[in-house]
Amino acid sequence: MPAANSAHATVPRHVAIVMDGNGRWAKRRFMPRFFGHEQGMETLLRVIDVFAARGVQYLTVFAFSSENWKRPDEEVSGLMNLVLIGVAKYLKKLAAEGVRIRIVGDRAGVSDKLRAAWDEAEAGTAANTRIQLSVAFNYGGRWDVVQACQRAVADGLAPAQIDEAALAQRMALAFAPDPDLFIRTGGEMRVSNFLLWQTAYAELYFSNCLWPDFGAAEVDAALAAYAGRDRRFGGVRSAPEGVPQGA
Ligand code: FPP
Repeated sequence: MPAANSAHATVPRHVAIVMDGNGRWAKRRFMPRFFGHEQGMETLLRVIDVFAARGVQYLTVFAFSSENWKRPDEEVSGLMNLVLIGVAKYLKKLAAEGVRIRIVGDRAGVSDKLRAAWDEAEAGTAANTRIQLSVAFNYGGRWDVVQACQRAVADGLAPAQIDEAALAQRMALAFAPDPDLFIRTGGEMRVSNFLLWQTAYAELYFSNCLWPDFGAAEVDAALAAYAGRDRRFGGVRSAPEGVPQGA
């Protein structure tokens, strides 16, 4: 493993995750895809605590994309129900563990019942500070850029006032620093319209592990890979030539 690079904090402040592989995980067990999503939620519950224990302050996960409406009706309604089940079953536990929950995404497209569950989760954890969990639901990176532009126009900004800062303040994750580390499980090497704006300088990490199998060992492998990266943000190498820079 390459030596940790002193040019950046070795623990990422913000980790973003595409939790991929639930369907395949279930299929390998001759189970319906929804079973994989259920297990995926259990995995998420476990790893939040691991990331918090390692010092990560913000965790943003992709739970339902703007494009996931194309999935079979049964799977879509299953994922919606999973939010209701998750809030009913785990909200108290997460609140007690110091997790602050926010839902980021297009609220207009979901049911009143779901919006009420989200409101309950956000209100019930608003004072927590140990780790900030953002659940991207009915979210797309392109949607986020478009809605930020629409808000800038609605706020009366002139074209010359619409700069990076003006849009960043209106993006769905405006309260958080940009993700330092982007993790995708399940072996695919795509961003899939996740945080397009915010991951401009994120370190990318792809794991073959299917999301339901992701645990403390996989979290630590991803954090170790991150610690070895040379983050340059468009600048120059911080390590001398010939020193390995990590994956
Ligand atoms: C991608 O795997 C996963 C999703 C589209 C859903 C992710 C949701 C969870 C992990 C549950 C957590 C839910 C909440 C509400 C926090 P896939 O179905 O595309 O897997 P595949 O590539 O193997 O088919």
